[in-house]
Amino acid sequence: MPQHKNTMNPDAAPKELDLSNFLYEAIDASSFIDVKSWSQYFDLIPVDPYIKEGYRYKAISWFRVKHKHAAAIEGIDQHIAAVNALSGMTDEESNKYLSSAAPSWHSGETGYSVWRLPQYAMQQSIQYNPVHGDMRREYPRISDAILNSDGFHNLLVHYASFFGWSDAIVLVQFQRVDCLVSRVGQPTVEGFHQDGNRHVGMLIVNRNNITEDSGVSQYVMDDNGKKTDELIFDAVIPPGQLIYWNDKRVWHYGSALKVANTEGNGGRGVRDIVIMSAKTPPANMPIGPVPEKFRTW
Ligand SMILES: [Fe+2]
Repeated sequence: MPQHKNTMNPDAAPKELDLSNFLYEAIDASSFIDVKSWSQYFDLIPVDPYIKEGYRYKAISWFRVKHKHAAAIEGIDQHIAAVNALSGMTDEESNKYLSSAAPSWHSGETGYSVWRLPQYAMQQSIQYNPVHGDMRREYPRISDAILNSDGFHNLLVHYASFFGWSDAIVLVQFQRVDCLVSRVGQPTVEGFHQDGNRHVGMLIVNRNNITEDSGVSQYVMDDNGKKTDELIFDAVIPPGQLIYWNDKRVWHYGSALKVANTEGNGGRGVRDIVIMSAKTPPANMPIGPVPEKFRTW
C-alpha cells in the first residue's frame, strides 16, 4: 500500500486524493494526538439507547470543514440552512453556521476552516416522517474539552488534508463498546458492511481488558455492491493508530469484544474509538433537526 503523502498547501485549493487508487491506509497519529488524555472522556459518554443490549456508548458532533481557497459547495449551505429552519432557528441564528460566517477556528498550516455545527440528530433524510420516515437518532455532544483541544483540531484537519476535499460536512462519533464476563460487545452490530460514505477515518483511543482477538479490524473488497470473502486486512489496530478507508471499495467489520481478565477492571473490557465520515451532497447527508433538548437558542 503506497503512502499517500500529505502535500497540503495553505495557499492553494486542495487536490482531492484519487480514490480509484485507494483502499486503506493506517497512520500513527500519536505524534499529533495525545490519545491517552482522551480515554477519560469516554467514561462520560452515556449508553446508546438504540442498542438494547446496552454495550454501546455514543456521543457525536458535526462540523463543516472547507478550505479557504475552495469555493463553498452551495448544496452544503442550503442543507445546513434547511435543517436549521426545521430545528426552529431564526435566520439570524442559522446564518452563523453558513460559510458566509466566520469559522469557529482555522488551521493556518493547512488552510482549512472549521465551523462547529449544531447538535443535529442522525437521520437519513431531511424531512422527518413519523410513519414512513427513517429513524431519527439523538445523541449528546462530544465533550467541549475534546472539541476545543489541539489534538482534536489536528485530527479533523488531518482527515481533510489526507483526502484533500474542498468542502464537506463531517460527522464525528466518539464510541465506546464494552463487554462483561456475562456478555460480549459488538463493534459492528450489522456484521461486514459499508456506510454509504466515500471514505471514513477511525482512530483507536483505548483497548482495556479485552482479549487479543477482540475488536480485530477486518476489510474485504466490494464487488459491484456485493461483499467478497477474501480478507484484505485482518489486524488489531492499536491505540494511537488512525486508519482511513475507501467505503465504496471495501466492506468493514470489527470482531466481538471479550473480557481478558475476569478479575480485572471489575470484569469489564472496553474499546474506545473515534469515527469520522465526510458528507458532500447530493449523496448521503444523514442530518436531522436538532432535538429540542439540545437547542440553545
Ligand atoms: Fe460502519
